[in-house]
Amino acid sequence: VENQEENQVESFDSAAAESVGQAEEPVNPPEPGTPEPAGERRGFIKFLCAFIGTLISAVPFGAGVWSYFDPLAKRNKGGGDGFVMVTTLDAIPADGSPAKFSVVADKVDAWNRFSNVSIGAVYLRLVDGVPKALHTVCPHLGCFVDYRPGNKDFFCPCHNSNFKLDGSLAVGVSPRRMDPLDIQIRNKTEVWVKFQNFQPGHSDRVPV
Ligand code: FES
Repeated sequence: VENQEENQVESFDSAAAESVGQAEEPVNPPEPGTPEPAGERRGFIKFLCAFIGTLISAVPFGAGVWSYFDPLAKRNKGGGDGFVMVTTLDAIPADGSPAKFSVVADKVDAWNRFSNVSIGAVYLRLVDGVPKALHTVCPHLGCFVDYRPGNKDFFCPCHNSNFKLDGSLAVGVSPRRMDPLDIQIRNKTEVWVKFQNFQPGHSDRVPV
């Protein structure tokens, strides 16, 4: 009986040793060139197709969104308070006669921004040392108004409207006076004008 038990113990030990030996055998990585399992390859190809498809769809979609919002973004950037620096105080005639100045600013439309272009002109005049601004466009039908130094008045040659130095109508067909524009002095000497256009032909000023 003892011999039988010893034999059983020995056979159990050797079996255990074999099984332990099998479990501890290292799992070798596949040899280079060994083909991948077909399931893994299919999964990778599916993922690649989905990724490329998403990319192809996203590019035109992103471009469309950008194009749609781009003009709004530009408009927001260029907004400001509407004032444009026109000149300095010492450039305006001290004797109270008007002088014409170009208004140069960035021009923005729906799709483009042009830097430093002329967007119009103003007459500037000192009244008791304080600058006043008048639009140079006639409120009747939009011709340019001239200053006549000899007459000390403004004159529109299109339909012979006359305006006084303060812009009020002296005689003529214009439905309103010349358009005054808001003005500010900044940094002690800079003359800033809030430049805007108004619709011609109205007795009231209607911004364009
Ligand atoms: S456009 Fe100036 S009077 Fe007509």
